[in-house]
Amino acid sequence: MVKIAPSILAADFLHLERDVKLVNDHADLLHFDVMDGCLVPNLSFGFPVMEAVAKIAAIPLDVHLMIVNPDKYIERFAAAGASLISFHLEAADEAGKDVSEYISLAKSCGVMAGVAIDPDVPVERLFPYIREVDFFLIMSVFAGFGGQKFIEESVGRIAGLRAEMDRIGTVKDIEVDGGVSASNAKALIDAGATMLVAGSSVFKAEDPALAIAGMRF
Ligand code: DX5
Ligand code: ZN
Repeated sequence: MVKIAPSILAADFLHLERDVKLVNDHADLLHFDVMDGCLVPNLSFGFPVMEAVAKIAAIPLDVHLMIVNPDKYIERFAAAGASLISFHLEAADEAGKDVSEYISLAKSCGVMAGVAIDPDVPVERLFPYIREVDFFLIMSVFAGFGGQKFIEESVGRIAGLRAEMDRIGTVKDIEVDGGVSASNAKALIDAGATMLVAGSSVFKAEDPALAIAGMRF
């Protein structure tokens, strides 16, 4: 069964409690986009917002770190209530590190460790980490902003990653993030995605519960 992860980046911040409660009973994960204005050209939110949301979230918090040097903060995000933490392969590249270091650190903090990539990073770069990660996050827009148009090539990239997992006999979750809605959910699931992040298509919908249900195939 696919997991739906509404991204609170698209929520109404003046009514954050209302919006979190709106999806608590319908979604599987709550996606939390942390941006530093450095790895990506935008800023979002961090610990104070996350700690507040953790108090009322009834579903696991899925933290997507779009920041350089995520190793500085993984422990604090775990302590703040994250159940899943993903970080970008590009952040490891920039720091001249192997992303394995971040994976081990996240696992040692007791959270599920995920490696994320933007649409311009070859999916083959994830293959060496299939056995050690808990999940991958395939960006289907360039990280940094909500409400962007879904990049169609993402479907093939997910299928390629799933095919490599099948080839080596390892099953891991694949999360897809950016421009996801009921119109592309089935193709993504068929290609091998198991977790769908959805910001605008959930929180800008008239009925978020219905929007979530519409992505379950
Ligand atoms: C973009 C974020 C996404 C974003 C998704 O950098 O990682 O999680 O919030 O928003 P939509 O679904 O509106 O594309
Ligand atoms: Zn995200």
